[in-house]
This record gives sequence, C-alpha cells and structure tokens, in this order.
Amino acid sequence: MRTPLIAGNWKMHKTVAESVELVEALLSGLGNITDREVLVCPPYTALHALGSLLQDTPIDLGAQDVFYEDQGAYTGAISSVMLRDVGCTYTIVGHSERRQVFGEGDEIINRKLHAALGHGLRVILCVGETKDQRDAGMAEKIVTGQVQAGLVQVTPAQLANIVIAYEPVWAIGTGDTATSADAQSMHATIRQTLTSLYDEVQAQQMRIQYGGSVKPDNVDELMSQPDIDGALVGGAALKADSFLRIVQFR
Ligand code: PGA
Repeated sequence: MRTPLIAGNWKMHKTVAESVELVEALLSGLGNITDREVLVCPPYTALHALGSLLQDTPIDLGAQDVFYEDQGAYTGAISSVMLRDVGCTYTIVGHSERRQVFGEGDEIINRKLHAALGHGLRVILCVGETKDQRDAGMAEKIVTGQVQAGLVQVTPAQLANIVIAYEPVWAIGTGDTATSADAQSMHATIRQTLTSLYDEVQAQQMRIQYGGSVKPDNVDELMSQPDIDGALVGGAALKADSFLRIVQFR
C-alpha cells in the first residue's frame, strides 16, 4: 500500500556536467519501474539542468534544503518558489547536517516544511539521534520529539505530501548502518508517534525512509522490514551502478 521511495542525496558533490552524466546513466539503466519511486537531490547549481532532463521521466527532482521565505533580502537562500520554477517536486528539510553544521533547530525546520508544502512541494523531513543520545538511551525520545516538532500545525490532509526519513546521525557517511532490527524498531516508534498525532489510518499511509550508509549489500535486508518504506542514500547515490542496485532492491 505504501510505494517505496528511493532518494539520492548528493550533498555537496558534482558539477553540472557530472550531474547530467549521472542522471543520463540512471535514466538509461532504470528500465521500467512502476512499483517504486525514484528521486535525486543534486546541489542547487545542477537543478535547472536536471529539471529539463528529468521532465516526463520516472525520476523526480528534489532539493536538499529550502528557505522558509518566498523572496527578499536573504543572502544565500533559495525559496520554494525558485525550486518549483526549475522543476523540483520535492525538498529535504531537517537533514542532520543542516541541524549540526548549520545550527538549524526544529522550529526553523517546521517553518521550512510549511513553506515548501504551501508551494506544492513534497517534503522529506529528516530525524535522527546522535551516537551520544543513543548511548544514553535517549534515541526514541529524541526522534519522537523531532517528529512532533517537525509536524507542528501540519493538517491530516498535508500528510500525504510528507515523507519521514529516519537517519541515525552515527550511521551517516560512516559505513556503520543501523541493524535492520534497530531501524525497524525506530520506524515502528515513529509510526506509533504518527498514530498518536493523527490516527492509525493516516499513520499507516505515511512513508518512512531509512538513511545512513545504505548500500547495495544492505538495502535488501533493510527494505524487507515492514515499516521501512524507502531509503535516503548519500554516498552510494553518487555512482550510477550502486544507486541503480539500491533502486532495484529485492
Ligand atoms: P550516507 O548519507 O548514505 O552517505 O550515509 C545518507 C544521508 O545523509 O542522507
């Protein structure tokens, strides 16, 4: 009932030419997929070129982040209006690198989410605990709090345009994936939180992705878990063959 979403988060990698090359390889290797959705989130500078290239293809285009105002004196910022203009249908918000490196908190992330939804973008809301928080037995409390704060003032009708990505910070870019059992357990906790915020039906319909060192050799097991509805992939999304293998999880 939930269509899996496999998304590549390219982070600060690839020039325009390299981005075009990767997307052309993905398009030619993808084949006919109907039972899963595929998304790429390149750096801002490549969005325009990829927007034309991906039009009427099975691959969606997303941004890695967005600002909450539509326009104005906000040096360095990019708005939802601009993302729509170049063909984006998705944006990520609340990635742990935005939280940690750029100091973004739940309130700003919630404002970004509302701005994006308001302009018809779908949103991937990232949540996840650090290693210290997990070691202190706080993982579930932290993640539940991030889900609640990220979804402040979100109506039931808006939920269809939101995907949650559970990305334990200690698993990102480290090669240290959560075990499928630990990931499943946190996904179940997130779905429980969604049930208490909304209701059981809404919670069952929402997609929850796992992210953090997803690779060709662990994707099948992760995706076999009942509450894991996709993957948000960093490093392994930068090469066509590894990302295609992840998309073609079995
Ligand atoms: P990774 O990154 O796959 O390189 O661990 C995932 C992410 O940060 O979205």
